[in-house]
Amino acid sequence: MFRRIVIGLALALVLGLGGFAAFAWRPSIAPIARPAASDFSADLVARGAVLASGGYCATCHTTRGGKPLAGGRAMVTAFGTLYSTNITPDPETGIGNWSEEAFRRAMHDGVARDGSHLFPAFPYDHFTKLSDADVHALYAWLMTRPAVAAPARSNALPFPLGIRALQAGWKLLFFKPGRFAPDPAHDAAWNRGAYLAEALGHCGACHTPRNGLGAEKRDAAYAGASIDNWVAPPLTGANPAPVPWTSDELAAYLGTGISRFHGTAAGPMAPVVHEGLAKLSPEDLKAVVRYVASLGGGDARAAEAAPVIAKALVADRSSLGPLADADARLYTAACASCHYNAGTQPNPLRPDLALNSAVSLSDPTNLIRVILYGISAKDGAPAIVMPGFSGFSDADVARICAHLRRTRTSLPPWSDLEKSVARIRAEGRGDY
Ligand code: HEC
Ligand code: HEC
Ligand code: HEC
Repeated sequence: MFRRIVIGLALALVLGLGGFAAFAWRPSIAPIARPAASDFSADLVARGAVLASGGYCATCHTTRGGKPLAGGRAMVTAFGTLYSTNITPDPETGIGNWSEEAFRRAMHDGVARDGSHLFPAFPYDHFTKLSDADVHALYAWLMTRPAVAAPARSNALPFPLGIRALQAGWKLLFFKPGRFAPDPAHDAAWNRGAYLAEALGHCGACHTPRNGLGAEKRDAAYAGASIDNWVAPPLTGANPAPVPWTSDELAAYLGTGISRFHGTAAGPMAPVVHEGLAKLSPEDLKAVVRYVASLGGGDARAAEAAPVIAKALVADRSSLGPLADADARLYTAACASCHYNAGTQPNPLRPDLALNSAVSLSDPTNLIRVILYGISAKDGAPAIVMPGFSGFSDADVARICAHLRRTRTSLPPWSDLEKSVARIRAEGRGDY
């Protein structure tokens, strides 16, 4: 009897493993000779270039100072570190021997040419929504880039997470393949914006929280999330910015990286703007703004702005008064020389910190990051710099944060600030 059970279990296991292997198996697609640049029209390649900007392909597939698209950029996830791959048309180490069919399968189904499953750090769960025509243009653009010989770096994923076949299980649970389906309840411009944001710009990859297995929570789209040691604020009505995100402010922020009523696109949001959205056509940018504005409904709350701005300007001037407490003195000495604004309107070169989301978020991470590491000249307003204060002690950075939270918002204080500063200092500045 016992032997029979053991044999039965072993058989079930073998059948199960065999079944899973069959289920996970994808055929390899035959290699081709590298297509010639003359195979693609200049128009098609130009269209592909804009799409590649809108999907930030080069941001993820290039290391700092490295050759464009040659891969090797580290992506630190909760599961371990993995590296982007070489997507230049080098036949040996890049994708030069990939047919368009193989490329389309990678973009739409997350499967490499050799049949292995790709990890969702490559946002194919968004790219699956791209139209065949756009994938065609991306292929044309990639195949006409300079080839770079750069072998893939091996990933540092703990066993068994590095086993690619297991990704088939992840896909079964969380991946919904299929092209973008326009929502008939909205007009063409809104749907164009939704397509660009969801299929190409994958805003949700950062702004939507993920579950324990790293999949975006579908029922919490754009609810805000932690990403790359930053916080991507909610884009829904739960966004904490005191001034609502109206279409005008979103157009300024997403098109230039700076909104006078909110602040600067820093950290991982900086390349999204400067390498991505700013390169879209004006109509496409407008469409994205249209879609994003509808997520938070800021236009309907536009009237809330004036009183909040007036209050922020008053708070700003408080740093001139008698400074009874030591936190206020520290803030004034370190920050008010630049952040004091004597005008009657917010001035993006002297941001009113009461208006900045970083001060109102429930998590102080973004504020601490900006204080420790500053904002470099390439982000935010051109050639304008906010210096980093990494020379300040953890305690002093914590005091400045606590002071801003206390005097610029009516929200509950942050707890364990000093520990957070120490943690963020240990994480380092990162790629931004
Ligand atoms: C958020 C970062 C990120 C972005 C943005 C991104 N990729 Fe990737 N991509 C990756 C990572 C990481 C891998 C490797 C995945 C793996 O090893 O399983 C990858 C793999 C690929 C592959 C498979 C290559 C191979 O050698 O197996 C292709 C093709 C690809 N990306 C194309 C693109 C294109 C085209 C774009 C822009 C439209 C893009 N990627 C944008 C991170 C990104
Ligand atoms: C790689 C991750 C990433 C991607 C992709 C991304 N964002 Fe962001 N986003 C962030 C982070 C991080 C911040 C906070 C930046 C800061 O505080 O300066 C942010 C900030 C924002 C803000 C300002 C919110 C506020 O209250 O201050 C808006 C609006 C926004 N993103 C919209 C978008 C849209 C639209 C897209 C897609 C087209 C997008 N983001 C894609 C990470 C990302
Ligand atoms: C030398 C001038 C200067 C000093 C000193 C300075 N800042 Fe800034 N800060 C700026 C400028 C300019 C910007 C806008 C940056 C841009 O648009 O590129 C900024 C932006 C910010 C932002 C907005 C970030 C965002 O993502 O929108 C915060 C928060 C901030 N500063 C906090 C502080 C704090 C706290 C201090 C003191 C510890 C401080 N700053 C000291 C010049 C300064």
